[in-house]
Amino acid sequence: MRRYSRIIGTGAALPARAVGNDELARELARRGVETSDEWIVTRTGIRQRYLAEDGLTTTLLGARAARAALADAQCEAKSIDLLVVATSTPDQIFPSTACLIQAELGTAGGAAFDVQAVCSGFIYGLTVADALLRTGRYQRALVIGAEIFSRILDWNDRATCVLFGDGAGAVVLEASEEPGILAARLHADGSQAAILCAGGRLDNGRVTGDPFLRMDGQAVFRLAVHVLGESALEVLAEAGLTPAQIDWLIPHQANVRILNATARRLGIPTERLVVTVDRHANTSAASVPLALDAARRDGRIQRGQHVLLQGVGGGFTWGSVVVRF
Ligand code: ACO
Repeated sequence: MRRYSRIIGTGAALPARAVGNDELARELARRGVETSDEWIVTRTGIRQRYLAEDGLTTTLLGARAARAALADAQCEAKSIDLLVVATSTPDQIFPSTACLIQAELGTAGGAAFDVQAVCSGFIYGLTVADALLRTGRYQRALVIGAEIFSRILDWNDRATCVLFGDGAGAVVLEASEEPGILAARLHADGSQAAILCAGGRLDNGRVTGDPFLRMDGQAVFRLAVHVLGESALEVLAEAGLTPAQIDWLIPHQANVRILNATARRLGIPTERLVVTVDRHANTSAASVPLALDAARRDGRIQRGQHVLLQGVGGGFTWGSVVVRF
């Protein structure tokens, strides 16, 4: 018998406070930073983002998304024997956010670890969990993308601080005789590390280096459009599908212009492109599972349909996964 893995539940969690572009522009103006709803919407498609309140942690957001996914899958938390968390904003250097979430869920015993691939993190985590389930050593995994990017933003840098938001998304992935994940491919190019990074580190009790996210927006834009197109074609070939057979395209939600360019390159009509960047902004590793959960819960994604999930982000990292629901 061949072994596969299938997504059997999805969940999401967002902070309580949604901040629209006008409100953000007013707050930034008080610091002497000038921006506008018009600039943000035209350049990025973002209309609002959710920002974490003091006291909310990546662990708590991730655990909320995980509980929602478990409820959707009608699974007990204790049936999870593999917990993978994608995050670039962990609550501590160690233990991993996965271990902290495991403690929140009360599921001690299984494997738990973080993956660090910035905005591609969920795609990396899903690919790793799929591979582990296929070995037969694990039965049921939680794969979570959880981020509080608002805490690593330089609120005096208008070219980055308007782009990101906080949130978490999760899926329950189960070993199955029926294929769910049809193909998956990951890539990285470390020579491009400098175009998107947060270089700060702890050094003998002090934070040294730049603790904020820095980005060369235009370089990221060009690379993102290129690798998303290439990666989609690679993974579709592996799955033996054409773009016309993809029911829903869910790329990392960074910028609506990147999303539209990717759909155009693949010849996938925009009606089949899932867009949440307008509501969530860029939530890094949480963006793909948040968008996936939104499209499942509003009834767009139906059983039997093919969904192409794609990540791209700092590292530089990228990858794609083809899923049959
Ligand atoms: N409000 C108003 N003006 C702004 C703002 C702002 N928030 N930010 C920048 N500007 C100004 C700049 O100062 C510049 O002014 P100037 O011409 O007087 O110098 C002007 O707008 C144009 O700036 P550009 O950087 O050239 O703007 P661009 O059209 O490239 O858009 C953006 C910038 C939105 C960052 C774009 O490059 C982009 O989307 N890049 C992709 C990056 C991305 O999505 N990153 C997310 C993380 S990476 C990932 O997830 C893959």
